[in-house]
Amino acid sequence: MDREPHGRLDALARDPYPYYERARQADGLMHVAELDAWMVARDADVREVLRRPEDFSSANAMRPDVLPSPAALAVLGRGFGGRPVVVTADGSLHRRLRTPIVRGLSPARVTAVLPYAAERASALVDAFAGEGRVELMSAYAQRLPGEVIGRIVGLDPADVPAVVHGGHRAEELLFRPLEEAEQIAAAEDVVAMQHLLDRYVRERHARPREDLCTELVASVRRPGDGEPTLEERHELVAHLQNLLIAGHLTTTALIGTTVLHLLRHPPQWRLLCAEPDRIPAAVEEAARYDSALQGFRRVTTRPVTLAGTQLPAGTALFVAFGAANRDPDRHPRPDTFDITRSPGRHLAFGLGAHGCPGAQLAREQLRLTLEELTRRLPGLRLAEEQPVVMRPTMIHRSPYRLRLTW
Ligand code: HEM
Repeated sequence: MDREPHGRLDALARDPYPYYERARQADGLMHVAELDAWMVARDADVREVLRRPEDFSSANAMRPDVLPSPAALAVLGRGFGGRPVVVTADGSLHRRLRTPIVRGLSPARVTAVLPYAAERASALVDAFAGEGRVELMSAYAQRLPGEVIGRIVGLDPADVPAVVHGGHRAEELLFRPLEEAEQIAAAEDVVAMQHLLDRYVRERHARPREDLCTELVASVRRPGDGEPTLEERHELVAHLQNLLIAGHLTTTALIGTTVLHLLRHPPQWRLLCAEPDRIPAAVEEAARYDSALQGFRRVTTRPVTLAGTQLPAGTALFVAFGAANRDPDRHPRPDTFDITRSPGRHLAFGLGAHGCPGAQLAREQLRLTLEELTRRLPGLRLAEEQPVVMRPTMIHRSPYRLRLTW
């Protein structure tokens, strides 16, 4: 595998902010070789792209950075999926796929899951509160979001770890340069998760329940009709896999970066502990300042001019939510982390047709997390022995590990 281009992409992903600044200051758009795309970086330009889905298709929204080896692809061939999902669909297909998800993540459904989310957040903190130190990513951030979206979808809690692990492995396989043996092992984990999800599809069709999995299945095949076809099972597993990954990896990432930035600014952490009413504003500021989903791709469907740059049909764009969120024309002092700023409209959850349907669920989990931590561990600080290293990813920006002490 060619690691050199990946090395440059990793450098960009670990610290994309200097690129963003150059792209915002460029005349027109800036082409970024590492991303193999034109970067859309100004707030106004990002909004324009998101408001014109007919001109800027999502077909390539999650284009992988790595093509798995033939042996890994052969393993994946034994799994399910490989069908368009909500985030990569356009037009009427997009609307059909999105409708049950929006219903399943409605304000009422989110409110209904909050007691469970609060109980789990509290239990996860109980497990380390007496220890005096914790690695927060593995002990908490990688656990709560999977348990919560698992509950909404209707997964047995015992299956959640395999589903979360499968999601991480799918991301690694498509976005990290792994050795051959590791690719095959990752592909096997992904396929195991897909077979598990397929069992849920068939089970919920046979015995419907009050959960989102049942609703997704029913949106494709009505209960009482014959067994889902193989094609329908492929579509439903792809759909579920995408929803689960969108639901947990992003939220895990934002929990990590939110706690990191609060603790890098101890006066702001102390302010939050003293005045927990500020928690919702702190969540918005963390989402703006170091967005979990830094950007997704789009491709032009016809010749268009954007920010004065002429783009033929079929041109790839990287729509950088993270860059727009640091645009000084929209956010004064954009590079300052400040939980007391008056909230501006950031783009951390996107906008328009593809805007995040899970934003409220994510915000509530961040709120619960900060309520627990500020109330129970106000003396929290970064453990100093090792510097925090960011994962080299544009889609789930977070620390690898977050060692804390108190
Ligand atoms: C901190 C957490 C989260 C962040 C930063 C985030 C961010 C985003 C962004 C920026 C988009 C727009 C993508 C685009 O325009 O191409 C998006 C879409 C999406 N998000 Fe989230 N999200 C988060 C949490 C969640 C959760 C908890 C769920 C579900 C439980 C979820 C489900 C989705 C889905 C299904 C889409 C695709 C919607 C579509 O294409 O119509 N997200 N998210």
